[in-house]
This record gives sequence, structure tokens and C-alpha cells, in this order.
Amino acid sequence: MKKTVSVAPMMDCTDKHEIYFLSLISKNIHLYSEMIVANAIIRGDRDKLLSFKKISNPVTLQIGGSNPNELAEACKISEDYGYKEINLNLGCPSKKVQKNKFGACLMQEPDLVAKCIEAMSKATKLPVTIKTRIGYNEVENFEFLKSFIQTTKDAGSKKFIIHARKALLKKLSPKENLNIPPLKYEFVYQLKEHFKNDEIIINGGIKTTEDIKHHLLKVDGAMIGRAIYHSPYFLAEIERDIFNNKNVPTRSDVMEKLIPYIQEETSKGAQLNHIMRHTVGLFHGQNGSKTWKQYLSKNMCIRDADLQKVNHIMDQVRKTNPVSLER
Ligand SMILES: Cc1cc2nc3c(=O)[nH]c(=O)nc-3n(C[C@H](O)[C@H](O)[C@H](O)COP(=O)(O)O)c2cc1C
Repeated sequence: MKKTVSVAPMMDCTDKHEIYFLSLISKNIHLYSEMIVANAIIRGDRDKLLSFKKISNPVTLQIGGSNPNELAEACKISEDYGYKEINLNLGCPSKKVQKNKFGACLMQEPDLVAKCIEAMSKATKLPVTIKTRIGYNEVENFEFLKSFIQTTKDAGSKKFIIHARKALLKKLSPKENLNIPPLKYEFVYQLKEHFKNDEIIINGGIKTTEDIKHHLLKVDGAMIGRAIYHSPYFLAEIERDIFNNKNVPTRSDVMEKLIPYIQEETSKGAQLNHIMRHTVGLFHGQNGSKTWKQYLSKNMCIRDADLQKVNHIMDQVRKTNPVSLER
């Protein structure tokens, strides 16, 4: 099985602009959309929610929902937008998500989850996969996790992404649920030992290429969220150290390549700040990074930002031309 590295689905972060921006840094990374609710796909502006500029990286659509018919319909609708996979969110613990009965609270209802995955798998030719946690509330034992994964596998899930910490559905806020329950990677490694022929991806707290290498010895893939969103050029290090790519673009190359995209998207009505906000961390750790961040937040992460301002900051970047691979 080919080992993979992916960027985690993150609401309000991994939208289509972020997906395109990250694809400019890494050709090998597998990208995930933010979670889109099935009902929104059915009743909302489909093109706006689902379309993205074609890139060579695999892109997965993540869907949230718990109504098998709605999920099936959302899968059918999404099939022709160019995604390579559809992932069901069984890991998000937010109160709003729980009220609508999707995300991590569905771990409490394996039979319903099975119905959802069966309906989705019947509705689309694309592989249907899941992203979940190792447990919830007081439930944190390998037997439960193994049985839950078996249920999703029997229902048709083709890949299993495990955020290696449990979700405390009532006690913690979504942010706390990303940090407070301890990471227990052993659960995921053990899962791989049990499901030898299945694709098991580990997620949670991965920050360095050393971490990635270590996990890839034990499981089939590593998924990274915050470390890439806050410092997107980490992807260059991943390209170089994990995928052995000798021609990694510099930070300024990435920005130069982003400009035609910005022109194209803004001419179609996209707001410049919606694209530029994803580049705030691009120069993280570099000389001038503070200036870049300040300039962006004052001039470009605002509603009426205009393209001239991109040209201005790019002139500065061209003059200083930071090329280092260091983060
Ligand atoms: C801002 C934010 C939004 C998130 N949105 C989603 C989401 O839409 N779907 C999902 O499955 N997980 C979501 N997550 C969880 C991440 O996918 C990931 O599981 C988590 O951040 C742990 O990985 P990390 O330690 O590498 O960040 C989100 C996390 C963050 C920080």
C-alpha cells in the first residue's frame, strides 16, 4: 500500500482557495475539504460549495450528516466535481454538530453509521471513507474501537482516518477537544495490526517530518491539520524529506504562482481577503514574517482589499526574496 501524507479537513480553513494554495507547495500531498453538510449540498448553491480549480493532487470531499438518504443524495450530487473520495465526518465534537446529530456523537450509534455508509457507497462510484476518534466520553477501549471500525468496514468504508484522542462530547469545547484529551497513538497502531490489509491513517499532534516518518513505519498514512494551516511551508519540508522532491518551490515562487489564480478568482467575484488569509503563515519563522503578517492583516485580510496591494507586497518579497527551506 502506498504511504500517504494528507492535510486534515478544517472548517473555515481548508476551503477551495486553501486547497489550491497548498497544491502550489506540494504536488504529493492529499488534500481534504472542510466539512460540508449534506443538507447544504442538497439545498444550497452547489457550485459555490463544491467546485474547485482542478489540480493534480487528490482532493477528498468531507461530508457531515446522519440521514442516509440525504448523505446518498449529497454523494450523487458531488460525484462530478472532481473529488477522488468522499469522507464521512465521525469525529467533530462541536455542540452545533451534535445538535444536528453528526460528527463524533455518531460513534454512539454504530448501526446508524453503518446505514449512512451503505447508502453513500451505493450512491457513488467514489470510495467512501471515514474520519473518527479513538473513543468518546468514558468509552476508550480498543475493543470498542475495533468493533466500530469493523462496522464501518462491513458497511463499505475503504479507509479509516483516526484522530488519536477521544472526544468529550459534553464537557469540552471544540477547541479543548483538539488539545485536552491525551493523544494515544498506540490505539491506531494496534488497529493497523488488526486490520493489516486496510488503509489506516493516523492524525493528531503531528508537527515534524520526523513525527511523520515515525508514524509511517506503523501505519499507512499521516494526516496533519494545524501544523500546516499555521505554517503552510511545512509542506515544502514534507515534499523534500518524505517525497524526496528536489525541486521544491520557494515561498516567493508560491506567491508568484498564486497571483494568476487570485486574478482569475477575483474576476469571477471572489473576495481577495478570502484567498490571502490563507497565506498569513507562509513566511512563518523567516526574517520579515512579522511585516508580511502585519501588512496582510492591515491591507489584505479586509473586505475591500484590492489586487494592487498584492502587487505592492510582492515587490517587497521580490526585493528580499526569502528562499530558505527552514520553517
Ligand atoms: C479550525 C479547525 C477546524 C476543523 N474542522 C474539521 C472538520 O471540518 N472536519 C473534521 O473531520 N475535523 C476537523 N477538525 C479536526 C482536524 O481535522 C484534526 O483532526 C485535528 O485538528 C487534529 O489534527 P492536528 O493536531 O494535526 O491539527 C478541525 C480542526 C481545526 C483546528
